[in-house]
Amino acid sequence: MIRTYQDVTPAALEAMAQTTDPRLREIMTALVRHLHGFIVETRLSEAEFRAALAILAEMGRLTTDSHQEFVLMAGSLGVSSLVCLMNNGDQGRRETSQNLLGPFWRMHSPRVDNGGSLLRSETPGDALFVNAKVVDTEGTPVPGADVDVWHASPVGLYENQDPDQANMNLRGKLTTDGEGRFWFRSVMMVGYPIPTDGVVGRLLKAQNRHPFRPAHLHALIVKEGFKALISQVYNSADPHIDDDAQFGVTRATLAEFVRHGEPHPTARDIEGPWYSLDYTYVLERGPTVLPQPPIK
Ligand SMILES: [Fe+2]
Repeated sequence: MIRTYQDVTPAALEAMAQTTDPRLREIMTALVRHLHGFIVETRLSEAEFRAALAILAEMGRLTTDSHQEFVLMAGSLGVSSLVCLMNNGDQGRRETSQNLLGPFWRMHSPRVDNGGSLLRSETPGDALFVNAKVVDTEGTPVPGADVDVWHASPVGLYENQDPDQANMNLRGKLTTDGEGRFWFRSVMMVGYPIPTDGVVGRLLKAQNRHPFRPAHLHALIVKEGFKALISQVYNSADPHIDDDAQFGVTRATLAEFVRHGEPHPTARDIEGPWYSLDYTYVLERGPTVLPQPPIK
């Protein structure tokens, strides 16, 4: 029989204990224990509780085929990064090139041959040449891996946020060659703010936080026998490299996007500076499971 607030937690835990599936039982028991502990610790008021429920409902309403407020919130609280780093790099024991998926991955990127371009419409900006390698944890090259790459434009927008870009601009699907390499040409991206017109924007404002993410290149690398590698490679020279609003930047995913003043050795159309990025992605063995695309 419940008499005071102190009797509620044991009653709820008893109900959780009836869960048939052992993993679900473990998760629900811990969730109730921590949730109740949080409410007691903060002495959550009735008004705050009602506000919290309204916020969750608002986040649900804001989430559509083209916007994912829960992904933004999980990132902004550091939860996405915590889950990622705890579950990768030999279960969190080592640094990893695994990183956040983010909300902008789309399936069915167009095929790009090695050496090809990600540009599908005119995209003013400095040329970027990416030379990447995919290896396993022993450093052995992984040939025949499928690689999706995608990134924001030189004004900080993904193609599906920007009517000035063609469908699938700055996205492509490549395959690693016999030495585990893939390479392509694109344009130098910049960092961008996460959307701030919803709940997450209000939170950042209340916390005096800026919404910016440092410039990055996304990749999703898939090869049977390895865990799908979801990665972002960050520009170490970006002004927000030390205060990513999504806590995604790690030492293993920092890279130098090298600026060149000299003429490019082969691409004769380039006037002015261009950039190059060299990066090695490390795949871990494990079941190959593709993530669900967060948006259409
Ligand atoms: Fe991104």
